Amino acid sequence: MNILLLGGGGRECALAWTISRSPLCSSLYIAPGNPGTAAYGKNIALKETDIGVIRKMIADKQIGLVVVGPEAPLAAGLVDQLSDLGIGIIGPARAGAMLESSKDFAKAFMHRHNIPTAAYQTFTAENIDKGFRFLRKLSPPYVIKADGLAAGKGVAICHDLSEAENEFRAMLLDKKFGQSSAKVVVEEFLEGIELSVFVLTDGSGYVLFPEAKDYKRIGDNDQGPNTGGMGAVSPVPFASKCFIQKVEERIIRPTINGLQEEKIPYCGYLFLGLMNCQGEPFVIEYNVRLGDPETEAILPRVRNDLVELFLMATEKKLAIARVETDPRHSVAVVMASGGYPSSFQT
Ligand code: AMP
Ligand code: GLY
Repeated sequence: MNILLLGGGGRECALAWTISRSPLCSSLYIAPGNPGTAAYGKNIALKETDIGVIRKMIADKQIGLVVVGPEAPLAAGLVDQLSDLGIGIIGPARAGAMLESSKDFAKAFMHRHNIPTAAYQTFTAENIDKGFRFLRKLSPPYVIKADGLAAGKGVAICHDLSEAENEFRAMLLDKKFGQSSAKVVVEEFLEGIELSVFVLTDGSGYVLFPEAKDYKRIGDNDQGPNTGGMGAVSPVPFASKCFIQKVEERIIRPTINGLQEEKIPYCGYLFLGLMNCQGEPFVIEYNVRLGDPETEAILPRVRNDLVELFLMATEKKLAIARVETDPRHSVAVVMASGGYPSSFQT
């Protein structure tokens, strides 16, 4: 089968490496890819959101499976616009992608389905005064989130009230993140330790991939400004069997059941950003894709043929699938240009 992988980061390099080793993969195309992915398939220079060009390429290269790496094309409705082609796609349509592209939608979804997450309220410029009153009732630290996608920068954790009020005002009135901060979520701070759990689901069945923990600070010893992730490790020592069981019972199954109840079809990854609060799992955020750099750490631990799992997902057979995990530990380390995460030369 010919496979098209969309994206161009380290995550896609790890996916390309894994997919290219499957006997089910005849030709792998990566768009746009990067110099790393060129070792595992053919890079095609196109934008992940350029639907017309992607449709033509799917026809020309007789693609049977599309794997979407990043969130932007999913949030833009790429999957909806390819649905008439009748090919397998790993990645949800726009309605499912809202779990990541709207924090307000995700919080309300969790609320409706009784999924553990921090208490919250959502505000707009119209009811900003109510927002200020809500902030004053909370105790620090304050968690303020732009509703929409903001390249990982849309969350502010403020340690005093005036900083929180300034951030809240900048998001809502000064449109700090444009349309993405037209709505702002203010939520309770969760004290605990974070980890990432990855699920591949076909909308009813699911399989659990190895969990990971990413380290977001730029410097050694977890110091300095936040980045998209400077490295990741898998497995996570505090993700005990009992903790993962709670995640399945309280979060994964209710999420998949909730999607079904709300008639939101979903075939792709669900990446749970979780807080372990004294052994109890809470959702910090949903993502509708794999993580980067977590993917680089988890895929080497998956013993299955990944393409076979993807095909089982597109055929809605994941209920009978199982991920075989290598018990050894895996670490991904990111090398970045000097200056990152502020201005840098690539
Ligand atoms: P998000 O983009 O929602 O993952 O938030 C970015 C980061 O902010 C997370 O990885 C957490 O470290 C932190 N964060 C977000 N929400 C909370 C919360 N309610 N309590 C504590 N930390 C949070
Ligand atoms: N490393 C976090 C993410 O991919 O969102």
